[in-house]
Amino acid sequence: MGKDVIIACDFDSAEKTFAFLDKFTDTKPFVKIGMELYYAEGPSIVREIKRRGHKIFLDLKLHDIPNTVKKGMAVLSRLDVDMTNLHAAGTKRMMQAAIEGLTRPDGTRPILIAVTQLTSTDQESMENDLLIKEPIDKVVMHYASCAKEAGLDGVVCSPLEAGKVHDTCGKDFVTVTPGVRFADGDIGDQKRVMTPAEANRIGSDYIVVGRPITAAEDPVAAYNRCVREFVD
Ligand code: C5P
Repeated sequence: MGKDVIIACDFDSAEKTFAFLDKFTDTKPFVKIGMELYYAEGPSIVREIKRRGHKIFLDLKLHDIPNTVKKGMAVLSRLDVDMTNLHAAGTKRMMQAAIEGLTRPDGTRPILIAVTQLTSTDQESMENDLLIKEPIDKVVMHYASCAKEAGLDGVVCSPLEAGKVHDTCGKDFVTVTPGVRFADGDIGDQKRVMTPAEANRIGSDYIVVGRPITAAEDPVAAYNRCVREFVD
């Protein structure tokens, strides 16, 4: 699995997305399309970004009964995305069904990763709202192990958890980590952040970076800096 920087294209229209992507004349960054852009523009935005030569992480976090997830994943696979995801809370059976749906007739499929506990969930809300009484770190590692046992390729996690996920699930189990900020940058609403270089050192395979690139005065320079710090 190659290390890479994925830009979170958190825009609400195709127009804003292409105005941003048009700035990249020499490189075709790996981009993340989330719910906002996908719900605004539908599958045509995926096809168009793909046609322009970008790799795509479609971040829709599926969570439903196994049969529905399997059929949904089959459609996403035909969209030819490179990476997509689901909630591990849907159980191993749902994750296995997702892999079946995602696998193309020739046996290939996009990288499939799981969300464990959302980083917006803390110990208190997990105990009170979900009635899960175990320590949250243990729950995250358990969900990661279930994802591995179901045959998934990795998890989305905080960069602070990436090392432990690799210790638990093996070094080839992919960690995709948001919450990245430059050392001299604004942290915004993220709470626990790491620089690209730190994320590299602790073993993140992919970093997902939004505003430090999308809101930069020079997004191309910010992206190149991110790649230099993370990959080089
Ligand atoms: O702008 P920023 O770099 O904070 O964007 C991070 C991206 O990663 C956003 O698309 C956000 O939704 C996503 N994300 C996150 N934390 C998670 C899961 C996803 O920040 N735990």
